[in-house]
Amino acid sequence: MSFCDLLTGLPNRAAFIDHFHVSLEKAKKEAACLALLILDLDGFGEVNERFGREAGDELLRIAAERLRLSISERDFLSRLEGDAFAVILTESASRADMLAEKIIANLNVSFHLGEGKDFRIGASVGIARYPENGLEQDRLLTVADCAMYEAKTGGGNRSVRGRVRGHGHAGRGILFDDCYLTGIQEVDMQHRKLVDLVNELIGAVGTGKRDAAIRIYEKLAAETEHHFSTEEALMKGAGYGRSDAHFREHRFLMDELRHLKGRIIEGGEIQVLQLLTDWLVTHILNADKPMGDFLRDKRASGTSPDFA
Ligand SMILES: [Fe+2]
Ligand SMILES: [Fe+2]
Repeated sequence: MSFCDLLTGLPNRAAFIDHFHVSLEKAKKEAACLALLILDLDGFGEVNERFGREAGDELLRIAAERLRLSISERDFLSRLEGDAFAVILTESASRADMLAEKIIANLNVSFHLGEGKDFRIGASVGIARYPENGLEQDRLLTVADCAMYEAKTGGGNRSVRGRVRGHGHAGRGILFDDCYLTGIQEVDMQHRKLVDLVNELIGAVGTGKRDAAIRIYEKLAAETEHHFSTEEALMKGAGYGRSDAHFREHRFLMDELRHLKGRIIEGGEIQVLQLLTDWLVTHILNADKPMGDFLRDKRASGTSPDFA
């Protein structure tokens, strides 16, 4: 498996998951702290629309370089996907707030993307801390993602600290928080169903029931396919401008889902669960929630066909 993002030269999502796991285990052993920053560029979609894909890629390369210069060499920076990045701070986790501010300031400087192509973006940063926000990787990722989304919906260009939560459910599946709601009833019901299935799968894997796990996995794949077609119909019906990228992401996730079934059969369940929870949460927060915002606006203005 490759651990490098070809566009920016940064470690990719797989490397991030790997490093996060190792860092967290180390922090537990040494009773140390750890902080996770998830950041998403504000206004990035507009670069591609105005100046084309190449300019968008150039912006990502420059942003990655600025991020690299913002962190210390003990921090671990990676590109998760698209315009989303993550930083793991394993020492002096208390630096997290300061680092978030520094990152935002460095990204706020205008990007020169070629002749007459100057562009400004912002950044929304979510911060999760171990052990305050959770003890397990999934939980910390969820907290950071939710905080990032809160920063974005609060107007962007800011950082938000994850809310302190109890540890009762840490690592025992996904808790369907309010922050996952898109406001589109049909979509939210299907998301809840997918989350339930992932949690069921976690239960089956945890108790070593591999046959049951495979059955649940197959059901999850079928439900996901159905869910994607529901969302795609809603997006088409409402003329959603970002539907191409969203459809592509769906196709990518479906391909991966099919591919991962082999891994479950080979005994790689834990890694599969990690990827599944990670995608589900990331896709809902980064792609489905903005879609939900658009669909709700359309419905409010009475220019969209009826939907649930
Ligand atoms: Fe969805
Ligand atoms: Fe989606």
